[in-house]
Amino acid sequence: MSRIPTIIGNWKMHKTERSARAFIQELAPLVATSERRVFLAVPFTTLSAAAQAAQSTRITIGAQNMHDHADGAFTGEISASMLKEAGAQFVLLGHSERRHLFGETNPFINRKLQRALTENLLPILCIGETLQEREEGITQRILSLQLEEGLKGLSGADVARLLIAYEPVWAIGTGETASPQTAQAAHHAVRDYLAHRYDPKTAQTVCLLYGGSVRPETAALLMQERDIDGLLVGGASLDAQTFATIINC
Ligand code: PGA
Repeated sequence: MSRIPTIIGNWKMHKTERSARAFIQELAPLVATSERRVFLAVPFTTLSAAAQAAQSTRITIGAQNMHDHADGAFTGEISASMLKEAGAQFVLLGHSERRHLFGETNPFINRKLQRALTENLLPILCIGETLQEREEGITQRILSLQLEEGLKGLSGADVARLLIAYEPVWAIGTGETASPQTAQAAHHAVRDYLAHRYDPKTAQTVCLLYGGSVRPETAALLMQERDIDGLLVGGASLDAQTFATIINC
């Protein structure tokens, strides 16, 4: 994916079909002239309604998770083809809440990533260190491991097709945004890793997003950093006016 500035809202377990439709109707005119890509990661049950409401707008709808198998006996799970038919064009994979609350591992996330690429569903790989890992000074090691295992088996061409979101776990939902310098340093390290593992051109092509307590007040400064191509926004994406302010920052 090229480095078109991209702002993604992650609704997590919020909004029903009805409130999703109302939100999109309110947001669409506010971002109609934006040059940034506007993505919304919505709950499974609102995918169809959201995708329909987003038709003829600048908003692209996607999902927050999926299973790595194409189909099968996996009660309660959902496949890439189901998401696509419901209107999803992208999927978040390895979000920290999936990793920490639901025990998702790097190899599992890697298999999902491969499945999404096979099925032509745009994957957004989320990575990030915990507070303890940052305090122990092993942030870079953790990010490298998440990339090492998360991108296993992928070619440079595959990697150029996806987006990567750096979301420090200590910044998610805590109100504590990483400073632009801290976020930039991590993004630079990710690009450096990709340049060494693949090649400099691939590293320069990948769209890198920052996530973790992004607010209208912090968005513009983060977006000014050289290696930050976009934002992944949780709490502040639930209100259309607030989210539009971030998109238009
Ligand atoms: P937050 O969530 O903006 O509420 O911190 C970000 C995310 O989890 O993607």
